[in-house]
Amino acid sequence: MPFFDDLELLPDDPILSIPIAFAADPRPEKVNLGIGAYKTAEGLPLVLTSVKKAEVQIIQKNLNKEYLPIEGDAEFLNYGLQLLFGASLYQKLAPHLFATQTVGDSGALRIAGEFFARNISRTIFLSQPSWTNHKLIFERSGLNVGSYPYYDSVSHRFDIDGMSAAIQNMPPGSILLLQGCCHNPSGVDPSIEEWKELSPLVKKQNLIPFFDLAYQGFGESLDKDAEPIRYFAEQGHEMVVCYSFSKNFGLYGERVGFLSILADHPASIPKIASQIKTTIRSNYSNPPLHGVRIVKTILKSPELSAEWKIELENMRDRICEMRKALVAALLVKEHGRDFSFLLQQRGLFSFSGLNPEQTQRLREEKGIYMPQNGRINVAGLNTQNLEYVAESIISVI
Ligand code: LMR
Repeated sequence: MPFFDDLELLPDDPILSIPIAFAADPRPEKVNLGIGAYKTAEGLPLVLTSVKKAEVQIIQKNLNKEYLPIEGDAEFLNYGLQLLFGASLYQKLAPHLFATQTVGDSGALRIAGEFFARNISRTIFLSQPSWTNHKLIFERSGLNVGSYPYYDSVSHRFDIDGMSAAIQNMPPGSILLLQGCCHNPSGVDPSIEEWKELSPLVKKQNLIPFFDLAYQGFGESLDKDAEPIRYFAEQGHEMVVCYSFSKNFGLYGERVGFLSILADHPASIPKIASQIKTTIRSNYSNPPLHGVRIVKTILKSPELSAEWKIELENMRDRICEMRKALVAALLVKEHGRDFSFLLQQRGLFSFSGLNPEQTQRLREEKGIYMPQNGRINVAGLNTQNLEYVAESIISVI
């Protein structure tokens, strides 16, 4: 009896399948607005100059390739936590923090998911909508995945009332996934005042805030984008943060991230560490070397750090310009649909409001690729394709 004949055939990943379909499309006018990776004004992938310089320094050091400890590179984690919490808050929190390097942010989410399922709670709530991979990661981690209202598709705004009401009905002890900034896929974030309204509700309901921070620096600034997480930490929440260096350092394929857990009592830290390290060891044993060496080399050097911050700002500025240009291009067309709500959105993504049928038509008729939920990677726009994209959007609405 063959073992594999009756396997269920699962659908392709809705995001990672896009670059493959795009590459196979022969049309010269095709545009990739799919996967969340920054592109230059010429539509090309960008390796930051600070990253290239750090790599030269690393090669010159002639370092070995021995295994890292299970929890990764301690110096890297130190720099990462400072970036996340800011130097002074980090110093205050340090005795209450556990951190481990992870295989990108997805690796951090998966390790956290297994840690929760085994030790804390099997119930997690995600924003509606959320990054498509969140649900898959947490279901495969053994969690029951629920959702809370987040994005109001009529007003195109954050639904503070819906989210607040939902929080008050969540079972105490549940895990509440929050995106720290540049919400994926909607591009809509709560204001800092709204975060301050949410914090006491989360505490009253005894939920664990579980932050996913994948875009620090793509919203407003490195510090501003971390403000909600810093605020929650200052309010004394026990909480978990998953962090990505994929976007802000452009290190997508290097898989650099970390997972951090903030506990009330320092005495909990060795216990947390033992649980997380055992989970990592039983997954991928220990993390990769090269990407963390790059991040560490940059954050350690005042010159490279300064250069990286300028490069990050340049990426952010170009995304903002393209978002404004798209809205302007859509405005001048005669179609009776107001796209000015896109201007309120931040980060790499804009939620266009296009439905699955319209995104499918864009792909088939125009060679414009985006996930079915209508999420646009704004960095995929440039002055050469903008008009074409705007005209094509109008043609399908
Ligand atoms: C995205 O949302 O496009 C990125 O975070 C890449 C991914 O892994 O889905």
